[in-house]
Amino acid sequence: MIMTNRPITTDDAGIPAPSDEHSLSVGPNGPLLMQDHHLIQKMAHFNRERVPERVVHAKGGGAHGLLQITEDVSQFTKAKLFRKGAQTPLFLRFSTVAGELGSPDTARDPRGFAIKFYTEDGNYDLVGNNTPIFFIRDPSKFSDFIHSQKRRADNHLRCNNMQWDFWTLSPESAHQVSFLMTDRGIPASWRHMHGFGSHTFLWYNAAGERFWIKYHFKTDQGIRNYTADEAAALLADPDHHVRDLHTAIAKGDHPSWTVNVQIMPFEAAADYRFNPFDLTKVWPHADYPELTIGRLTLTKNPVNYFAEVEQAGFEPSNLVPGIGASPDKMLQGRLFSYPDAHRYRIGPNYLQLPINQPRSTVNSYNFDGPMTFANPSDPVYAPNSAGGPTADPSLYEGERYHVTGEIVRSAYRRHAEDDDFVQPRALWENVLSEGDRANMVRNIVGHASAPEVTSTMKLRVADYWTNIHKDLGARVRKGLGLN
Ligand code: NDP
Ligand code: HEM
Repeated sequence: MIMTNRPITTDDAGIPAPSDEHSLSVGPNGPLLMQDHHLIQKMAHFNRERVPERVVHAKGGGAHGLLQITEDVSQFTKAKLFRKGAQTPLFLRFSTVAGELGSPDTARDPRGFAIKFYTEDGNYDLVGNNTPIFFIRDPSKFSDFIHSQKRRADNHLRCNNMQWDFWTLSPESAHQVSFLMTDRGIPASWRHMHGFGSHTFLWYNAAGERFWIKYHFKTDQGIRNYTADEAAALLADPDHHVRDLHTAIAKGDHPSWTVNVQIMPFEAAADYRFNPFDLTKVWPHADYPELTIGRLTLTKNPVNYFAEVEQAGFEPSNLVPGIGASPDKMLQGRLFSYPDAHRYRIGPNYLQLPINQPRSTVNSYNFDGPMTFANPSDPVYAPNSAGGPTADPSLYEGERYHVTGEIVRSAYRRHAEDDDFVQPRALWENVLSEGDRANMVRNIVGHASAPEVTSTMKLRVADYWTNIHKDLGARVRKGLGLN
């Protein structure tokens, strides 16, 4: 007899459960019965509780929040989420890149900074990192790069020798590896780091005028990092960053970021001193200063981690009218990769799950497939004469631009100052303090001193850093005992 006001347990079909604790047996000590549907459903569902983890960025956490636009940028974009005064709900997921689910939050690794804006014109996803640049500039190298950062085929171990092998053979990685080896390579929390859209994107206004832009999300909490020693001491708490974010939001301490953009006139790209679409380069502030346009605030923790964080599917291809892709080859590759990953990892109807579902009306002619529950009624094709939805190409007027050329497999055409080392050199020479430099050298030496790193590789590591700056190279050489 039920003695409390608690609700009655049911199975997933809503049928009252016969017991929370006992299976159906022939007598108290006898074998179990096939007809115990309740037990079979429990065991069978449990076996299917996991979806594959993300192939990269598996470990993470996230929160809901709001984007508030304070400035008028209608001269640059007609995107509704960037109208002055607009308030757009969003979900932001932070992550590490290389580790699996359960790996330590305090690893030296870039951090993901993936935002899904639920706009009036559908989802706009900005899937960035806490650095403005990346290790490579052609998507054909991405899977090789990730393989080198993950586990070896034979012993299933991470391997610093393999990491340096890839980096030293890929000099375009020098800028991103420099960031990684400074203390910003281990943020103290997700609240205490910047976020970047990283790629260059296209903005176009209502008159069809175009601009190239970059996004910067500057932490209002201030930058805080852990030294390698501080991070090592925290290894017993692998969920350090998940806990930090959750605790802060739960007690009403809502983290925020000032939203800045750099804007380049469309025509300036062709002969800018750096290739403005090369993801291994920033746009120096002296050329393109940051303009503040608003604030992003995180206000609400997820209620169910699996439904909101694990099932979230971010896709750089989700661009809304007023925003377009640039010819950045990495961005172009990512436009394909993410929705493809979600169809495999979550299922082809992942956009119908509450966390991914647009908050605007969906009038799509795609339908059916596993687990669908949002199928349209007739008509099921376009064009049709039955009054079904029709597309409006005028919304995308400004997205057009002229491209011409031979079909080639080639590096980017060189701009006047394109060089893999000039920007990391500026970081070392002009931005880092002497304390930052000492820690950077210590971090590089520590990483390249792992037992599996060979003496030949150590020489290559020293040369890699000498290319950036001879003092940096000399200090690494000395730290590795090569003098
Ligand atoms: P600026 O002096 O105008 O900008 C330097 C930038 O470096 C600031 O945005 C600053 O951000 C950031 N910074 C400060 N300390 C570090 C650190 N330890 N690790 C990484 N970034 C740091 O110079 P430029 O724009 O000419 O850029 C010079 C170099 O600075 C670049 O080559 C690049 O390596 C780096 N950088 C440039 C950025 C850009 O978009 N132009 C963005 C980030 C880095 P803050 O103090 O707010 O944290
Ligand atoms: C996650 C591919 C470059 C940021 C992923 C995932 C894939 C992927 C397949 C897993 C998606 C999922 O299962 O949900 C690629 C490819 C790249 C690339 C092919 C280059 C060609 C980048 C770059 C950035 C980035 C340059 C940042 C500027 C992220 C982030 C996530 C992610 C933040 C996690 C998103 C989340 O929180 O769910 N990437 N990636 N990636 N990637 Fe990339």
